[in-house]
Amino acid sequence: MIIANNVHKRYKDLEVLKGVSLHVKTGEIVSIVGASGAGKTTLLQILGTLERPTAPTDFDTFVKINGVDVTSLKDKKLSKFRNQHIGFIFQFHQLLPEFTALENVCIPAMIHGQKFKNVSARGLELLQFLGLQDRATHKPNQLSGGEQQRVAVARALMNQPDVIFADEPSGNLDSKNADELHQLFFDLRDEFNQTFVLVTHNKELADMADRKLEMVDGNLSNGG
Ligand SMILES: Nc1ncnc2c1ncn2[C@@H]1O[C@H](COP(=O)(O)OP(=O)(O)OP(=O)(O)O)[C@@H](O)[C@H]1O
Ligand SMILES: [Mg+2]
Repeated sequence: MIIANNVHKRYKDLEVLKGVSLHVKTGEIVSIVGASGAGKTTLLQILGTLERPTAPTDFDTFVKINGVDVTSLKDKKLSKFRNQHIGFIFQFHQLLPEFTALENVCIPAMIHGQKFKNVSARGLELLQFLGLQDRATHKPNQLSGGEQQRVAVARALMNQPDVIFADEPSGNLDSKNADELHQLFFDLRDEFNQTFVLVTHNKELADMADRKLEMVDGNLSNGG
């Protein structure tokens, strides 16, 4: 599903990633932990195609998602690939405030060129799966923090991504809502074989994962 090899990232003098390699199987839930500033977000953004790795001196750097080396895709193709194959969940839901929950969920499909009326049924189905069918017409500011984050999960699922990358998904939630969100990830894996890579400071979530990797000194421990 994901095979990353020898990924480097340098910001001027700061070498954040020093040749990270990682292998994630379909249906696997992998957590990435590590100290603040260790490079977890940087790695997740590179795996998620939002950032590009620094060109290495040796030529064996790649990030393959479902067999496609995303480091070789030009910007336009990359955006298209991202829209169709990758879902994101961030610490702050990043829902669009002027749109309803259902509209927010449908946006990835509309970016893909589909009409709202043709995808709203799937959007509603996702909201229903997440227990939010009664909140479909609410705007984000009319939802609780836990509900907002579950809408963000539904949005991430809209285009049936190969993998969902989540960066501190429960960082802004109380422990009850955090627990519910974490359980949801495992339910989605059981139901749809959904693959997840989760960056988290939440020990419970990190330990629930199939594999827990730690970013230390620009590399992943436990073999990636
Ligand atoms: N665009 C950038 N320009 C320069 N330095 C950056 C940039 N992005 C990140 N860094 C630096 O790279 C290092 C790793 O940052 P990153 O955000 O990946 O850490 P992190 O492990 O996600 O930390 P946290 O747990 O606090 O979120 C930090 O020292 C950060 O200051
Ligand atoms: Mg971070």
